[in-house]
Amino acid sequence: MLCGRTNVNKFLIEEQRRNPSLVGDFSMLMSDIVRSCKAIAQGVSRGSLADLLGDAGSENVQGEGQKKLDVLANQAFLRHCEWGGHLAAMASEEMEDIFPIPSENPRGRYLLVFDPLDGSSNIDVNLSVGSIFSVLRCPENCSGGAPTAVDFLQPGAQQVAAGYALYGPSTMLVLSVGNGTHGFTLDRNIGEFLLTHPNLVIAPETREFAINASNERFWEPPVQRYVSECLAGQSGVRGKDFNMRWVASMVAEVHRILMRGGVFMYPRDSKDLSRPGRLRLMYEANPMAMIVAQAGGLASTGSQRILDVQPTSLHERVPVILGSRDEVERIERYHREHETGEDQPFSSPLFSTRTLFRDD
Ligand code: F6P
Repeated sequence: MLCGRTNVNKFLIEEQRRNPSLVGDFSMLMSDIVRSCKAIAQGVSRGSLADLLGDAGSENVQGEGQKKLDVLANQAFLRHCEWGGHLAAMASEEMEDIFPIPSENPRGRYLLVFDPLDGSSNIDVNLSVGSIFSVLRCPENCSGGAPTAVDFLQPGAQQVAAGYALYGPSTMLVLSVGNGTHGFTLDRNIGEFLLTHPNLVIAPETREFAINASNERFWEPPVQRYVSECLAGQSGVRGKDFNMRWVASMVAEVHRILMRGGVFMYPRDSKDLSRPGRLRLMYEANPMAMIVAQAGGLASTGSQRILDVQPTSLHERVPVILGSRDEVERIERYHREHETGEDQPFSSPLFSTRTLFRDD
């Protein structure tokens, strides 16, 4: 029996009562999103039993091969969220253009943007994947006329809500409606997400970092500097040993950081100069930046706070550095020092060390 435990619907209705700017049917929209995540959790957990693993034989807008579950997860969001009358349009990693709410349904005042199944290279090997979503207000007149992609191009600071579902050993939903970051665990016996992790806080300091180290030669100098100092451990300028993790699933990495601190980096690199980073601003970086910021952490491109970046296109990519506040601020400082030339590596024939890297 529930016996007073807070389920996600109760939580959202109470948040809406508390915050008068969450107008109209906000909590009902969130319930539709929650239902999408439950449907995806079911598909992910059935895997091979329901013939859901493997390639779909198609490509998404970024030219990446789609998995069957990518396609199904995208459909789950569209079908659960298109009829309620709460949205004017949706946009997704899996669709080149926006999805305006079909004319037979009423149009609402919100916009939903999502990555239906993030970390999908992990699907076929039964590792953690997740869904990420961001809710924006439809600008004035958006629901009157036909919404366009331009209506979505709002800085992350304007998100009304953001969250992710993590399909891991247990399925969790972590969300923020602008009043802290809160975690819910799916109780499969009753089909409800129950509040298990209220008011998550990211420890400001950490000894753990996550980065795809195979890209090291392509990283920018400030990131090379930061990682080399972590690797130097106790004997280097940081004076302490660090641990490294890489799940290759952003949802899982951000979740670990919310649970025990850490810093996650997918920085700008020179591997493909046409891309300023790997992760997508609207449906990966922005929602995660809100979740992290609402838990006391920080999210940055290295030179700008992610929540302040003005999007210029739906599928734009950004460098992402997020997690424990002190570490993200340090990496931002390294970017500034690189800009001003203060961090020039110094190779001394006497000491054979980069002594100009100060640690203050
Ligand atoms: O596309 C996003 C993503 O799958 C993230 O979830 C993850 O952090 C990253 O890409 C993994 O990248 P790589 O394949 O370089 O390890």
